Amino acid sequence: MNKPFGNEDPALARYVQGLYEPEDPILCEIRERCAREGLPDIQVAALDGRHLEVIARLVGARRAIEIGTLGGYSGVCLLRGARPDGVLHTVELDPRHAAVAVESFRRAGFGDRAMVHVGLSRELLPVLAEEGPFDLVFIDADKSGYLWYLEWAAAHLRPGGVVIADNAFLFGQLGAPAGAEPGPELSAMDGFHRELARGQRFRATVLPTGEGLAVGVRL
Ligand SMILES: C[S@@+](CC[C@H](N)C(=O)[O-])C[C@H]1O[C@@H](n2cnc3c(N)ncnc32)[C@H](O)[C@@H]1O
Repeated sequence: MNKPFGNEDPALARYVQGLYEPEDPILCEIRERCAREGLPDIQVAALDGRHLEVIARLVGARRAIEIGTLGGYSGVCLLRGARPDGVLHTVELDPRHAAVAVESFRRAGFGDRAMVHVGLSRELLPVLAEEGPFDLVFIDADKSGYLWYLEWAAAHLRPGGVVIADNAFLFGQLGAPAGAEPGPELSAMDGFHRELARGQRFRATVLPTGEGLAVGVRL
């Protein structure tokens, strides 16, 4: 391998961030309001938000679903890339997070195109299935659910639709030398990658962002 998988050069990161300006005042306001409201600082990074927007544009997303809303930062990015009549269903366990997200969507001009559903993804997704088939599924919630979410995406994406999953490197745990028995998160993430890579339902790759952004096209 003569080219590295990722690039950790901070000067290059500054150059790209400076030129592409992935965080405009609307996204900046969302991030700052989330912090003021006491939400954890775990939304996607600004450039990852741009990745989401561009992928949603590529796929011409009309019906998108997000698992893990937080304060609506990534949801706004997805809706920016969706078609003008596109809708986003987004699922969030914590009602406090959901309330902040509703306000974010309103301020970003997507109040009527973002449906925030409060509850456990595994209970809500079977109900939301009737809104599909979907053009895009973005997975960004509990890591122990990733394999389950991928199975759900495989069943409810249209052919050519895309699944995206953040934190695909599992904070450095993935690829680390095998130690003790893997916990539920590591075992689910490993199962997720095995299925995405070899399950024959997706053609997929992992973008080497800081967190790892897995992207698969439904065959
Ligand atoms: C990493 S954050 C999502 C960040 C968001 N996608 C963004 O980038 O702006 C994960 C969110 O998933 C929610 N969550 C965790 N487990 C969940 C579950 N089982 N069902 C629904 N939401 C869940 C958490 O409350 C949290 O708000």
